[in-house]
Amino acid sequence: MKKRLQRAAAFLLILQLLACSSQQKLAPEQIASGLAPVSQPTTIALLGGTGMVGGHILQRAIARGYPLRVLSRSPEKLDYLNNRITVVVGDARDPQVINTLLRGSDVVISAIGPGANAPADLTTSVSRNVVAAMHDQGIQRYLVVSGAGVVTPQDRRNVVGWATRQLARLRYPTLLRDRQKEYSLLAATGIDWTVVRCPLIGSGFAGGKARSSLQTPARFSLNAGELADFLLDQVADPTYIQQAPFVYSVSR
Ligand SMILES: NC(=O)c1ccc[n+]([C@@H]2O[C@H](COP(=O)([O-])OP(=O)(O)OC[C@H]3O[C@@H](n4cnc5c(N)ncnc54)[C@H](OP(=O)(O)O)[C@@H]3O)[C@@H](O)[C@H]2O)c1
Repeated sequence: MKKRLQRAAAFLLILQLLACSSQQKLAPEQIASGLAPVSQPTTIALLGGTGMVGGHILQRAIARGYPLRVLSRSPEKLDYLNNRITVVVGDARDPQVINTLLRGSDVVISAIGPGANAPADLTTSVSRNVVAAMHDQGIQRYLVVSGAGVVTPQDRRNVVGWATRQLARLRYPTLLRDRQKEYSLLAATGIDWTVVRCPLIGSGFAGGKARSSLQTPARFSLNAGELADFLLDQVADPTYIQQAPFVYSVSR
């Protein structure tokens, strides 16, 4: 029985790899297309806003009227949003930079991802900096884009959940170890963290609503636009405080 399940999972994995959707970043004009003036009282500090996932968060946060403080190592990448967002320049591994980024913020969202030559502990060290700055500045809410390979005590993975973890172990072993340590670090803090565990993220936006589960992902993929909406919905929703939901899409 176990062998048959494993074969079925391997088959699903191969199908998923073949069907892997586009991971292209949004173009600046797509991000700016829904630009709305500031109308929300909650300021978001965003890490990874120049990345594929971060671009979707940026797009939907400015469309919803959030004030934003966005970290970038290359601020010219965000020139097109001049006057709508505050750009903080620097490297997320620098605690001073994170302190500056968080100043005046109410919520922190991280979509940091390791590029080439990133240290093996990038996400753990960035989250350590964020937690320290949150303590210093009295900020409570922290949302982290993480991976479906991360394990928590609540997990009751079905075959898709099992296969998703194997995929992460095969393709991103260093990042997965780092993400697991980051989860342990956050689980030991008293802040209102949510670790959002994602399977493969595609960059199209199908207009659906992401599903979530504390036990298993029920699909192999997640639409980046749906993820962005899910994250922004969590800003004022306490459901997943100090939890690590799997988030996935049922539409492609
Ligand atoms: N893509 C997926 O299929 C997928 C699936 C599951 C989970 N995730 C998680 O989602 C996260 C984001 O993925 P992605 O595809 O959006 O990655 P990405 O396109 O490579 O973006 C990574 C972002 O992190 C920033 N960054 C990296 N190191 C930094 C540093 N030291 N200081 C400041 N900024 C730094 C990059 O800034 P620069 O522009 O300066 O390089 C960029 O904005 C990943 O960590 C991954 O764990 C992704």
